[in-house]
Amino acid sequence: MGTAIQTVPTPLTSDQAAAMAQQQIKKHHVAIVLLHWFNATTWLLELATGAGLIVSPYYRFAPIWYLQMMEGIFGSRANMLRFHIAVGLTWITVFLVYAIFGFRNYLHTEVLQHEIGLDADDLRWLKIRTLLLLGRTDEPLPPQGVYNAGQKLFALLVYSAIPVIMLTGLTMTFHWFGTVIVAWAMVLHYFAVGLVVSGLMIHVYMGAVFPEEKPAFYSMITGVVNELYAYHHHFKWWREVKVQEQRWRDELTPKPEVEEPSPAEKADLNSEPDGAPR
Ligand code: HEM
Repeated sequence: MGTAIQTVPTPLTSDQAAAMAQQQIKKHHVAIVLLHWFNATTWLLELATGAGLIVSPYYRFAPIWYLQMMEGIFGSRANMLRFHIAVGLTWITVFLVYAIFGFRNYLHTEVLQHEIGLDADDLRWLKIRTLLLLGRTDEPLPPQGVYNAGQKLFALLVYSAIPVIMLTGLTMTFHWFGTVIVAWAMVLHYFAVGLVVSGLMIHVYMGAVFPEEKPAFYSMITGVVNELYAYHHHFKWWREVKVQEQRWRDELTPKPEVEEPSPAEKADLNSEPDGAPR
């Protein structure tokens, strides 16, 4: 058996911290990294063209110069719409393939269990994080799993909004169910996109700008984070990884073999201490 793995985070010595900063642990599968950046690129293109397509004075939020610039790039609004639909349909197809073939490994384990499932520590984390922001507490944040509760809320928002965006997009593209439904689909489409965009502002800031989360950003490129970051920010996940590593080590360590006693030793064991048979 190996050494016991701590159950709560404790202050580290500088040697321990330096050693942990050198160790990398795997955070994301290559499939997730590729899907994430494909998704981010798609969103960038869809938001840029989507904003350029809303010209009605009732809904428009992009300035006139932006609408003119986008129309100039695509030649016409019809071409911009064709591009928006083509990118959207590609996005839906890729996600369908991911949902069907990656259900067991990624969607079920990675997304439903790790990215979305909020536990009691997560609820406490949300409460304390809010109080910390308001300067009303100095309680330490409870340990977190592979994603913290804020990230889980964002993921929950994204995974609820994505099916709505896809279905309403398809309804508008193929004019399903008549004019009234298409009109409602448009409203729902904007609404669901708006919700994701409001979460994205925090997500992109935390992912790409916030200094403490830099290792998380690089993990979405390399797939790994250093152990020190995992220990400080995602202690429960760090512990899971350590427990798993220890299990593997225990399985690989050869067990001391119990030798079969020789016939003479067996006879000896069966005899009384004075040598008389039992
Ligand atoms: C430039 C844009 C983006 C950047 C810089 C970015 C950054 C990141 C990073 C660094 C992570 C990993 C977090 C971690 O491992 O702790 C992540 C995860 C994730 N991203 Fe993004 N992202 C971007 C765009 C998007 C978009 C457009 C969406 C969806 C609409 C999205 C959805 C997610 C989800 C669901 C996760 C997993 C859970 C989470 O961390 O919230 N990301 N992103």
